[in-house]
Amino acid sequence: MKKLILKSQKSEYQIIIEKGIFKNLNKIIKSYSYQKCVIITDKNIYELYKEDILNLNFEVVIIEPGEKSKTINTYESVINKLLKMNFNREDIIVSLGGGVVGDLSGFIASTILRGVRYIQIPTTLLSQVDSSIGGKVAINSLYGKNLIGSFYHPLEVIIDPEFLITLPKREIKSGMGELIKHAIIKDKNLFDLLNKYKSFNELYENIEEILFISLNIKKEIVEIDEFDKGLRMILNFGHTIGHAIEKSFDEDFISHGEAISFGMIHILELFGKKEISEKLKSLLIKYDIVNNYDYDIKKLYEYIKNDKKILNDIINIVVVDKIGNAHIEKYTLKEFKDMIEV
Ligand code: GLY
Repeated sequence: MKKLILKSQKSEYQIIIEKGIFKNLNKIIKSYSYQKCVIITDKNIYELYKEDILNLNFEVVIIEPGEKSKTINTYESVINKLLKMNFNREDIIVSLGGGVVGDLSGFIASTILRGVRYIQIPTTLLSQVDSSIGGKVAINSLYGKNLIGSFYHPLEVIIDPEFLITLPKREIKSGMGELIKHAIIKDKNLFDLLNKYKSFNELYENIEEILFISLNIKKEIVEIDEFDKGLRMILNFGHTIGHAIEKSFDEDFISHGEAISFGMIHILELFGKKEISEKLKSLLIKYDIVNNYDYDIKKLYEYIKNDKKILNDIINIVVVDKIGNAHIEKYTLKEFKDMIEV
């Protein structure tokens, strides 16, 4: 078992990492005082873990899996279900699922009855290494992803790596992209450690330790810059180009973690960091992340220019000078366009 404490401005909460801990959920939740506990999950998780979920004897709200559920419609429908069961301010929401369930449930928790307590139980590698901690909760708008949201931290984050056993390979790759990103921006030792394993199966033997190191990187960044005004932006390494790659294909064609992995490689190459990019490529190969996608980087500007993070025509680019060291550089859109279109 590994434990971290994240200190946000309004609260502090623990992140527990332990194989099999989900089976003890009842005991953990009993340590809180509450009247009702409602699990929000998606159909996939419900089908896979139905018995465990029903054994908990909590109310359950099930949503459709996938990004299409991060909408104002699903938000309203879940809120209505909760209110119909007389959800009150003493009650607790348990978010059980990947990033979509976590972001939606967290946003519901932050707004229903002006804010109630919620517990994050991330079930994908991506949500275990990234989205379940740090308090960013949101749903999508017609004008882009995560545009309706808030910063709202959970009561606790419970990470059970055993959920990864049933996770599709594509989702493992996606999470590995973000995990490797944490290593390259902040921790050379983690990068070297990830290099020592031959595959994810080998890494899984030490998953508690790896998640602990990776989450600690994010925790330390969030504690310094909770509201994403400066340092936290380094977590966006590879994301400007990565998001553009994602958008250039049909929704869900390429996984988020793969897209940002290729985004990291492109940025390293654009900034002349050939040696780091080669090391990154060979690490990514170990985890089956190989760029066989057909797109033209020179054409990605069309998607980059509408990025909602661009303010007054200035784009923040995360640059890695050496493995474990990243900083932010500011460019005008025109400068960045020239950079990628040469
Ligand atoms: N996923 C990036 C962040 O939490 O800031």
